[in-house]
Amino acid sequence: MADSDSSRWLLNLQGRCLMTCALLLLAAVSSEQLSENFYDAKCLQAMSIIKQKVDKFVNADRSVAASLMRLHFHDCFVRGCDGSVLLNSTESMLTEKEALLNKGSIRGFEQIDEIKYELEHACPGVVSCADILAVVARDATVKLGGWSWPVFLGRFDGVVSFADEVNGSLPTRLDSYAKLVATFAKVGLDAKDMVILSGGHSIGKVHCGAFFERLYNFQGLNITDPSIDPSFAAFLKKQCPQTNPLDFTALDTTNGTFDSAYYHDLLTNRGILQSDVALLSDPLGVEYAIKAVSDPQSFLFEFGQAMIKMGNAPGPAPYGWRKHCAFVEHKPC
Ligand code: HEM
Ligand SMILES: *[C@@H]1O[C@H](CO)[C@@H](O)[C@H](O)[C@H]1NC(C)=O
Ligand SMILES: *[C@@H]1O[C@H](CO)[C@@H](O)[C@H](O)[C@H]1NC(C)=O
Ligand SMILES: *[C@@H]1O[C@H](CO)[C@@H](O)[C@H](O)[C@H]1NC(C)=O
Ligand SMILES: *[C@@H]1O[C@H](CO)[C@@H](O)[C@H](O)[C@H]1NC(C)=O
Repeated sequence: MADSDSSRWLLNLQGRCLMTCALLLLAAVSSEQLSENFYDAKCLQAMSIIKQKVDKFVNADRSVAASLMRLHFHDCFVRGCDGSVLLNSTESMLTEKEALLNKGSIRGFEQIDEIKYELEHACPGVVSCADILAVVARDATVKLGGWSWPVFLGRFDGVVSFADEVNGSLPTRLDSYAKLVATFAKVGLDAKDMVILSGGHSIGKVHCGAFFERLYNFQGLNITDPSIDPSFAAFLKKQCPQTNPLDFTALDTTNGTFDSAYYHDLLTNRGILQSDVALLSDPLGVEYAIKAVSDPQSFLFEFGQAMIKMGNAPGPAPYGWRKHCAFVEHKPC
């Protein structure tokens, strides 16, 4: 479908159309706030279509929920929440999907495409890919036991996505507490948001290679990180032999349920990633970890609040709506 010739043609059309569209859109963006009932008038069934699909996917494979929820995070941190994480590369554009931090790691594109297909069938030209990611993140979290939150809608999709913008925009597994705080600050999130949103690691799985240094070569010394609970380290080594960096293990002890067990794991020396463990290197991180464990409901609530805030990250050059989440197509002005 999107062979190189037709996609170049589409991008050209795009360029000409953009001038006319831009002014209209900028006016819309500056005056319009996201709202919970944005689609009620234009596509009343949008929310139930998305929820039914997420239910179906997660019932078939529980691990899909984590992958779907993570996409919204990776979208919002790079160019704002504009669906740019979903764009496939073209001849002229190497997209975010190809970046080292994403490639082979983010999943769920087929599921998003299926949801988008259904929505275009029900209400053509209405629901943005960026909004789909925001709603899916909420529904997937709830499906695994998290608390619901209102998703504010009306995001515009972008038309570009660049692999080299991912470095510096997304946090990395080796980041210190200060570095994590700085990276979250770039999208308007504070230290508390960072600690709470890290609780996203309450679900899902991680490649063994993402923490091999801690298991096998702590500080280059060919030893296991002595801060890991010894029996947990032994368990992880069994799960993750040094020869298999592409094997998976669970991100927390209850990775099929969205709960505060992630923080309990941190406080009992069972954190996985260096960036997870780094949360406890700051008093604020310790405070919120303890609070999440002693009052799990407060964490479930705060997570939703922080997700709402994350979902407000603005994109630099909003375009409008994409018919296909994976590529840009001419849209009549
Ligand atoms: C604080 C900084 C963060 C870092 C350094 C980080 C890093 C990572 C890494 C390295 C993985 C494993 C990837 C792989 O092995 O392929 C992962 C998985 C995951 N992350 Fe994060 N992450 C962070 C924050 C977040 C946030 C804010 C969320 C969501 C609110 C989130 C949700 C997830 C989920 C759900 C998975 C599992 C995905 C799956 O099972 O497919 N992470 N993260
Ligand atoms: C986009 O790339 C994915 C693989 O990353 C592929 O499965 C999908 O078919 C592509 N979509 C389009 C519309 O080319
Ligand atoms: C991002 O940084 C990593 C190392 O930190 C580097 O290997 C990679 O080439 C950089 N660029 C992209 C697009 O991933
Ligand atoms: C939990 O982690 C295991 C790997 O140990 C993985 O196979 C499974 O899919 C994960 N469960 C979920 C719901 O992500
Ligand atoms: C690292 O330690 C392991 C056992 O703990 C040992 O078998 C291996 O030879 C060591 N490697 C180096 C380079 O010292």
